[in-house]
Amino acid sequence: MDSFTFTVQTGPVAVFFHKTITIPVLPRSGGIYVADENTLPLLQKAKNFDSSMPLVVLAPGEEEKQLSSVERILEAALNAGLARDSVFVGFGGGVVTDMTAFAASLYMRGAGLCLVPTTLLAMADAAVGGKTGVDFGNFKNCVGTFYPAQEIHISVDALRTLPQAEFMSGLAEVVKTAMLYAPKLYQILWEKKESILSRDGDLLLEIVKRCVQAKAHVVERDLKETGERMFLNLGHTFAHALETVAGLGTISHGEAVAWGIARALELGKRAGITDLDWAKEATGLIASYGYSIAPVHPVLAGRNEAETPQLLLNAMKNDKKKKGGVVRFVLQREINSTLVTPVPDAEVLAVLA
Ligand SMILES: NC(=O)c1ccc[n+]([C@@H]2O[C@H](COP(=O)([O-])OP(=O)(O)OC[C@H]3O[C@@H](n4cnc5c(N)ncnc54)[C@H](O)[C@@H]3O)[C@@H](O)[C@H]2O)c1
Repeated sequence: MDSFTFTVQTGPVAVFFHKTITIPVLPRSGGIYVADENTLPLLQKAKNFDSSMPLVVLAPGEEEKQLSSVERILEAALNAGLARDSVFVGFGGGVVTDMTAFAASLYMRGAGLCLVPTTLLAMADAAVGGKTGVDFGNFKNCVGTFYPAQEIHISVDALRTLPQAEFMSGLAEVVKTAMLYAPKLYQILWEKKESILSRDGDLLLEIVKRCVQAKAHVVERDLKETGERMFLNLGHTFAHALETVAGLGTISHGEAVAWGIARALELGKRAGITDLDWAKEATGLIASYGYSIAPVHPVLAGRNEAETPQLLLNAMKNDKKKKGGVVRFVLQREINSTLVTPVPDAEVLAVLA
């Protein structure tokens, strides 16, 4: 087992990397496990699983990311007589970890929290950094808190059972992290593509470690996204717009993000910000993993081509994260050099057709 600790405003976060799937031993004050129907079998086989502890099993998927699910977790904790120093253990993908963390942040004004991410996306991104939440009123993650886990337990062994589409969805966030912060990771993504795609365990461990470390450094400096944490939204303005226009659930988030990063590179080129060679190379990497880099994503094929760019732009303008009505884009000069800036509508429309 290997571990490291980073410190955010709320205190230290210990990250443990295990060979086999392992969950924390619960304290004397007890705890509660939260899984979904797909991760339950893995939880029951995990090292240190205690079948006498309360357990909430949610239906899988983003549709369950609602206040009512959080309420179920809180009710189960209360019925089990858990105290403030009891520990909530979220065992699953980003949906489970976001909701367990939200519930822990609310219970007795803040209970113990350990996260055990089981998707590539949750290991590399969602479980690290303290954002919790649920979807509300048709907006993703609109209600939530900042509440970092005290411990994160990762075993890439869990990725063996992950469906391919989910694996590729998480890999897009890995590519993003590499472009933003991790030149060595970026190099690995170019050089070891075959082994990554065949889910070589050692390589996945190295990739996940590099992503966790990169994200940890960002949230150490900017937990509440007042500054550089915004860089982690690279490609996401385009991605959210595509997900909205295509219809939520029609395309995986990672596919949308990969496409969004390619659009952001194109936009950066047009704005005279992105180095031309960097744009070409990074777009090449994205395409080499099989993600679409076409100006019009294939999921929108058959739509009215003249109207689609404007629909995407409208969706960006309705995004809850825009500040003061202005859409701001995360753009790159080159690897490891990023900025956030507004761009005229005409330029945005030009990279969508
Ligand atoms: N908090 C953050 O900073 C942050 C960052 C990025 C994304 N997110 C959130 O993460 C969520 C997406 O997370 P996700 O992609 O992990 O989706 P998810 O939690 O829905 O998991 C994807 C699917 O994989 C299944 N699954 C999970 N682990 C498995 C395993 N080991 N084997 C087999 N099946 C498994 C799940 O049951 C689910 O069906 C979104 O709600 C997003 O908003 C949060």
